[in-house]
Amino acid sequence: MAIQYEDVVSVGAGSLAGRYLRMFWQPVFIGRLLELKRPQPIKILGEAFTIYRGETGIAHVVAPRCPHRGLSLAVARVMGDSLECFYHGWTFDACGQCVSQPAENPGFAHNVSIKSYPTTERNGLIFAYLGDGMQPNFPELNVFSEPCIIENKADVRPWPFFAQIENGIDETHFNFAHRRTKFDDIGMNNGLPELSCQETAYGILRIAKRGNALRKGHYIMPNWSLSSKYEHHEGWSNHIVWRVPTDDENHISFTSDVIYKTGSEAEVYRAALTEKSIRRDQMAPAIDVIRNVLAGKMHPDEIPKDHPDIVMIQDGVCCMGQPIRRSRGDDILGISDRQVSLLRRIWNRELEALRDGGTLKNWQIPQGLETTRGV
Ligand code: FES
Ligand SMILES: [Fe+2]
Repeated sequence: MAIQYEDVVSVGAGSLAGRYLRMFWQPVFIGRLLELKRPQPIKILGEAFTIYRGETGIAHVVAPRCPHRGLSLAVARVMGDSLECFYHGWTFDACGQCVSQPAENPGFAHNVSIKSYPTTERNGLIFAYLGDGMQPNFPELNVFSEPCIIENKADVRPWPFFAQIENGIDETHFNFAHRRTKFDDIGMNNGLPELSCQETAYGILRIAKRGNALRKGHYIMPNWSLSSKYEHHEGWSNHIVWRVPTDDENHISFTSDVIYKTGSEAEVYRAALTEKSIRRDQMAPAIDVIRNVLAGKMHPDEIPKDHPDIVMIQDGVCCMGQPIRRSRGDDILGISDRQVSLLRRIWNRELEALRDGGTLKNWQIPQGLETTRGV
């Protein structure tokens, strides 16, 4: 049977897409927001987990609940790199082994354990490997090797991760959905782009040509991308984004913007960022605006032009305005969808291989993957 949209957006542990996504490292938390000794509950791929930073500074991801009587481990005490349950003191080390049960007979603890997951912290994001077996090598990008500012964000978005991936790979929508934005100001929306795309060792290379300007971006399997991003105050920068499902209908967009500025230029950039965040606090939250548009209370062309998140709001209207569970056969794709079509073919092929016990492609990120910034 052909893979349906529903197969791609269902991400629970037993689902096809859920099994597939669990074969890759996923970002799960912003490093600077995970305070020492303050465990947090998180939900990723339809599953609950506890994330905490041990006294050594290392971040750990373990099961959500104590196996004794089920208390959330997000309220546990951090002792060294272990978690001591708040209720009766059962203590679990970073590997999940129960190492202490103060009110129980000695010898009972070694029979008890919780699940723990490999983690690594890179460039300000905490990643976890939530699959079975040995974790794969961490997928390195060399865009971080020059002096730069790295701006990490985690935006919770109430639409499926795959709708967002399709939106991100779709270059044509700029000319329609992103009118009245910074893209107009730099002439990006003056004419429709000429598109090309091809499957690569890592995913998809996509190129949009507008006049003499090329914009080259990389979609990296299974759920992230490296592309260029334009902001008035910084020009073009590298933009890395992972679309991580929290469940079938919601995801977190983890982004790392890599801005090659140092010294006084970096100061100017930070000041502009602060100013943007003050303006954001004065406006309606982006998700509220999206909901209002979709409820017919505001037309998308009435979204305030000076809203700092106008581009994200326009994308949100497009993603959240599509039905979640629909037959892919109902979509009428044309040549402007060739990037989306290739994306769907790749996902179909991989999920079919997973379902049928076939061979999965061993995705590899080459050294020196770069974007072209420029309109
Ligand atoms: S519920 Fe955790 S120790 Fe009792
Ligand atoms: Fe967009």
